[in-house]
Amino acid sequence: MSACGLDFGTSNTALGRSVDHVPELLPLEAGQTAIPSAIFFEHDGAVFIGRAAIDAYVDGGPGRFMRSLKSVLGTALIDEKTKIGRERASFRDVIASYLRVVKHRAEQAAGYSFNSVVHGRPVHFVDNKPEADRKAEETLREIAKDIGFANVTFQFEPIAASLDYERQITREEIALIADIGGGTSDFSIVRLSPERHKKADRKSDILANDGVRIGGTDFDRRLSLGTLMPLFGFGSEMKKEGLHAPSGYFNDLATWSSINRMYEHNVKFQIGQVRREAKAPELFDRLLHVLEEQRGHTLAMDVEDAKIALSDVEQFDFSLDWVEPGLGATISRDDLVTHTKRLALRIGARIEICLKQAKLSADKIDVVFLTGGSTRLAHVRRAIVEGVPAAHVIEGDTFGAVAKGLTIEAERRFGPAG
Ligand SMILES: Nc1ncnc2c1ncn2[C@@H]1O[C@H](COP(=O)(O)OP(=O)(O)OP(=O)(O)O)[C@@H](O)[C@H]1O
Ligand SMILES: [Mg+2]
Repeated sequence: MSACGLDFGTSNTALGRSVDHVPELLPLEAGQTAIPSAIFFEHDGAVFIGRAAIDAYVDGGPGRFMRSLKSVLGTALIDEKTKIGRERASFRDVIASYLRVVKHRAEQAAGYSFNSVVHGRPVHFVDNKPEADRKAEETLREIAKDIGFANVTFQFEPIAASLDYERQITREEIALIADIGGGTSDFSIVRLSPERHKKADRKSDILANDGVRIGGTDFDRRLSLGTLMPLFGFGSEMKKEGLHAPSGYFNDLATWSSINRMYEHNVKFQIGQVRREAKAPELFDRLLHVLEEQRGHTLAMDVEDAKIALSDVEQFDFSLDWVEPGLGATISRDDLVTHTKRLALRIGARIEICLKQAKLSADKIDVVFLTGGSTRLAHVRRAIVEGVPAAHVIEGDTFGAVAKGLTIEAERRFGPAG
């Protein structure tokens, strides 16, 4: 029996196995253990995943690029067919294609195959819809079985992260684990100690679990709508007094998982009609150019790059010369905070809910353990830390803590790998 821990994230994926009872993440592409959850289907049939998928898309070859596939789990889109070359495939099939390659790469690196998996899952795939949430997990289970895992179990992502953190501690602690990723923000309050770490059943140590479907991709969307999309007609006036351009198109173009929808013929046709009614048709010419060239993801990547760079710089400029000669955009740190502060506050607000669930006051939390890419955003971090002001802040392995914890759990449930 060989087991692994698999963190299929909205933005990044990692897979680990235990070696001498220590979790080890496997390289999934050229020395990288965390790879983008991205896939590119070239029209001639070749399939790329991870950074290679991003590179193939950026190079501009004909094909279909997809990211943020996990966001579709638990929504009606999962069985909707999307165009891939001359064929159409469901998102379920696309996720299976991606995870099949991930599994194969990991097995090549490990030198043996995995038949059991502990899959990570957010506390809620979908907010306030238990049935959709159950379906999302069921879909992932079916996919994992389809790609060759005989035994498939799940663990909450923040609980997994807590197991990774627990390896480092020397005394008992009450910890708030905050995992702020690309698609969801997940929290657990757990009682940890070196002795407890050895126990298989940790139910009584889990004091609270809560999450909300807000992550880095939502920050990207808000930032894009606030800064970039107006250059393409968002919010612009129609000739008819009091009317504005329909916002749905821009929302789709600013949302990683729905960008491809914008390339459909009927959507481009409708935008052509909006253009005729618009006071500033030149903005819609830009939009149609982006859609013709299937460059929606390029805009999304520009916005994500800006968001990340703004941790270090006050302002991020990029050229949109490829859209229209001389066109460019500037995004400032103020823009980032202005357009996303409500998201950060909604994330921070979950802490109070967790504390209530755990029946603890904030001062009882010894440590707050941060993991997930979006904990790098200063205002998100502030919103979390303010919820537990007395707690000591521990920086986890941003892109590896969850996968390592799932790997620890895999050994507990299925025995050592190899
Ligand atoms: N330095 C940074 N500053 C701000 N955001 C960042 C930074 N680095 C990465 N991110 C963001 O973090 C997110 C990815 O984080 P992570 O890999 O933890 O998510 P994930 O595990 O794939 O998603 P989830 O767990 O929600 O399914 C992306 O939205 C990315 O833009
Ligand atoms: Mg994650």
